[in-house]
Formats: sequence, C-alpha cells, structure tokens
Amino acid sequence: MPNRLCPTTLSRMWNCVFMVLLISAGVSLIIYHLMEYSQNKSVFSRQYFHFMQNLNNSQQDYGSPLKYFNKVLNSNDSDNDVSYTKNYTILFWEHGKRMLRRFLRSYGKVEHDPFEFCSVRNCRVQIDDMNGLNVSDAVVFHLHRTQGPDTLPPYRLPHQRWIFFTDESPLHTFLVTKKFTMKDYNGYFNWSMTYRSDSDVPVPYGRTVPLNKAEKAKINSLPDYAKLKSRLVAVLGSNCGGINKRWQYIHSLEKYLKVDIYGHCGKLKCPGHFTTDCPILKEYKFYLAFENSNCKEYITEKMWWNGFHKESVPVVMGGDKEDYKRLCPPGSYIHVEDFDSPQELANYIKFLDENNTAYNKYFEWKKNYKVLNEHGYFGSPSLHICHICEALNFNKSPKTYYHLEDFWNKNTDCRGSVLPL
Ligand SMILES: *[C@@H]1O[C@H](CO)[C@@H](O)[C@H](O)[C@H]1NC(C)=O
Ligand SMILES: *[C@@H]1O[C@H](CO)[C@@H](O)[C@H](O)[C@H]1NC(C)=O
Ligand SMILES: *[C@@H]1O[C@H](CO)[C@@H](O)[C@H](O)[C@H]1NC(C)=O
Ligand SMILES: *[C@@H]1O[C@H](CO)[C@@H](O)[C@H](O)[C@H]1NC(C)=O
Ligand SMILES: *[C@@H]1O[C@H](CO)[C@@H](O)[C@H](O)[C@H]1NC(C)=O
Ligand SMILES: *[C@@H]1O[C@H](CO)[C@@H](O)[C@H](O)[C@H]1NC(C)=O
Repeated sequence: MPNRLCPTTLSRMWNCVFMVLLISAGVSLIIYHLMEYSQNKSVFSRQYFHFMQNLNNSQQDYGSPLKYFNKVLNSNDSDNDVSYTKNYTILFWEHGKRMLRRFLRSYGKVEHDPFEFCSVRNCRVQIDDMNGLNVSDAVVFHLHRTQGPDTLPPYRLPHQRWIFFTDESPLHTFLVTKKFTMKDYNGYFNWSMTYRSDSDVPVPYGRTVPLNKAEKAKINSLPDYAKLKSRLVAVLGSNCGGINKRWQYIHSLEKYLKVDIYGHCGKLKCPGHFTTDCPILKEYKFYLAFENSNCKEYITEKMWWNGFHKESVPVVMGGDKEDYKRLCPPGSYIHVEDFDSPQELANYIKFLDENNTAYNKYFEWKKNYKVLNEHGYFGSPSLHICHICEALNFNKSPKTYYHLEDFWNKNTDCRGSVLPL
C-alpha cells in the first residue's frame, strides 16, 4: 500500500513521509481526546460495585488486577446507569459458536439477554472473525482450543484487548492442545478471563451473596432438610482420573459408607454434563464435590450446582481450606482436609446422618446468604459476556501479559494429592 501512495522519487518520498506523520499525529490527538472524554463522562454504577463486593464474603481488598473496581467503589454516584458515551464490540475468535452456545444460550435453545443481570449493556457480540476484527474492542480466545499463536489474528488495533478464556485449572488448560504451554502465548494477551478472582475478567462458576434486609425478613424458619432427603452420599463423574487421587479417596470411603456413583466412573446412570441436569442428586444428604485438581480457587459447578443448588451438603476437595472459607457461605460444606482419613470422614458423615440437628446446621447460612450459579451449565445464567462488558467500561489502564506463567502456573497454583488414603 505505501508504494502506491508514495511514488519512489526521493523528494516526493520525503513529502509523503511528512504528510503521513502529520496525519497520524492529528489522528492520535483526536483519539486521545475522545478517550479522555469517555473516561470523564463515565458514570459508574452502584450495581457494579455490588458485584465485586459479592465475589467473596470477606471485606479485604483484591489487589491490583482488579484496580478498576476500586474506582467504582470510590465513585459517589447514586445513578444506577452508566451514561453510555461509547458502545463496545466483543469478538469471539474462531470458537465463537461454541462459546456463545454457553454464554448466550446456557446450552439451551433460547438466546438469553446477556445483560439481564448486568450493570452495563453497551456491548455487542461478534463471531465473524475477519470482518469483526477491525471493529472490535475486545477479542476473546478459547485458550484450550487455540492451536498456537500462529492461529491468533494477524494484526491488532492499538486499543483492542485480547482476552484469553479458560475454565479449566492450570493443570488442564492444554488438555485438548497438548503441545502448547502458557509461555507460547507470552506478549499476546491483555486480559485474563478465568474463574479466579484475580483475573481481569473474573468469571467464577458461582458466588456467595449476602441477603439484603428484605430477603432476610422473608425467612421465618428453615425446613428440616434432613427429613427431605432419602439417600446418603452421591458423586457424579465422567472423568475418572485426577492427580489429586480423588477416586482412590472415594473408593476408600466406600469401605465404610454406601456411595452412589453416577456416570462413567460408576454403575449408576444419570446425565449431568453441561446440557442435561441430574435431578436425583437432590435426594442426597451429601454430594462429593471433588474437583479434578487441587488448584487455587478452582471450585466448579460440582459444588455450586450439584451441591448447593441441589441442597445437598457438599463434601469438597480442590482448592485449599482458605479458598472455600473465603468463597462459600460459612458452615455450608465439609472439607476433606479437615479429616485425618477417609474412615474418619465416613464416621462424621454417619454421625450427621443419624443426628438431624447436627445435619441441619449445614443450612443455617441460608438465613444470611444465597449462592448464585453463573456458569451457564444446565440453563443457569452465564455472566461471561456481562463481565467482559463491565471490564471494557471500567478498566481503562493498558496491560499485557508478558510472563503468563507468573499468573497461571500448574506448579505454583496447584497442589498434588494432600490426602491420606
Ligand atoms: C475477598 O477475599 C480476599 C481474601 O480474604 C480479600 O483479599 C479480598 O479483598 C476480598 N474481596 C472483596 C471484594 O471483598
Ligand atoms: C457523597 O455524596 C454525598 C451527598 O451528595 C456527600 O454528603 C458525601 O460527602 C459524598 N462523599 C464523598 C466521598 O464524596
Ligand atoms: C450505542 O448503541 C445503541 C443501540 O444500538 C445506540 O442507540 C446508541 O446511539 C449507540 N451509542 C453510541 C455512543 O454510539
Ligand atoms: C483491517 O485492518 C487492517 C489493518 O489496518 C487491514 O490491512 C485490513 O485490510 C482490514 N480488513 C478489513 C476486512 O477491513
Ligand atoms: C446431635 O447434634 C447436636 C448439635 O450438634 C448435639 O447438641 C447433640 O448432642 C447431638 N446428639 C447426639 C445424640 O449426639
Ligand atoms: C495489549 O497488548 C499489546 C501487546 O501485545 C500491546 O501492544 C497493547 O498496547 C495492549 N493494549 C492495551 C489496551 O492494553
């Protein structure tokens, strides 16, 4: 293109270089002022503030990756709406259809409004890769399906955010594309989008939210949960591995207790993989929410959906005890690391099975909290597009991940088996 615009005679060429410089300076100035304008004019919403406050139930600060939330926090605006000085376009690269099946349709047939539970709605979604690229403010990559840096877009707009999404733990991020590692993508991505709270676009599988006064007032007394349950312990699994040795632990438990194993890893049949729910889990007193890896904050729908949503007390293995303490309602779950052996845990479960008062204590939290499922499985809401849109509205500072392994690393973010078997 420069060849045609600028013929190669020397004097003409200098004229031409000068012109190009002048024009780009002008354009930069305009862009700069537009950005200033949009920053000053944004009115941050209260709801957004609530979102962050609710991401966990403690009150400490998340630290730098979520800086933009502090801005919201400090804003003193009673207005609930963002004054839209700009619309944003989000492009889902290459695996757009797959991602939107979850993010827009929650694995069902009907398209939902992705901003229904959102503090903003000034974003639109694109999956037309090449035509979308030049008009997109964000490009989202499904990391564990991406076939290497060569398959990323050939160019990027200066203001464009490239976002990698993964909902697998660092141990399984490259399960599908085994030849790549995080390092291969150093310098490409601006933002992370994972279940972890220190992501630029945090998309936890579920959240704990304190009840407001009106909600609390509606609760007179809780049902006798023990009486509603006719079965003891269930687990549903399609992947019968896990370097945390979860299945060995389950088989040890089986020596002392009846464990009903649904799915590929057992004899009982039930659906329960993203699309179709497994309603029978509601009849169980306990659900073994054992994640496939013990990684920082890696807590999935196993706990939020099969446990809490089914009102079956989750027995958890995955993140460390602190993670659960921070992210779940107090007194709502049983962590395997609180027991010296599977036998000891089995004895405790048997004790709770016999003592309804003690069992029902695991539901006391419902007087003060509710839990939300936001993963998009089984028709539950997906907040992914909403959170990208919020980040585009509120997170203005530039950023690039030059050392991805400092952020996402199976050696430092995950533990092996920590269990006596
Ligand atoms: C969530 O918990 C962590 C650890 O206690 C804390 O650092 C962080 O500030 C909390 N976040 C919010 C928004 O309450
Ligand atoms: C927020 O606004 C209220 C009412 O306008 C005012 O009294 C208060 O001082 C303001 N707070 C801050 C931190 O600006
Ligand atoms: C944003 O999009 C909406 C809906 O298409 C439109 O009404 C509005 O004018 C747009 N705003 C800007 C600033 O482009
Ligand atoms: C998008 O922009 C790039 C770089 O400016 C340009 O080379 C390309 O032709 C454009 N593509 C489309 C489809 O407009
Ligand atoms: C049952 O549990 C309650 C509450 O934890 C406790 O006070 C009571 O002693 C227990 N009863 C028996 C028989 O263990
Ligand atoms: C995104 O990262 C690239 C590096 O690959 C950088 O050039 C660009 O300035 C970053 N953009 C933003 C908006 O942070």
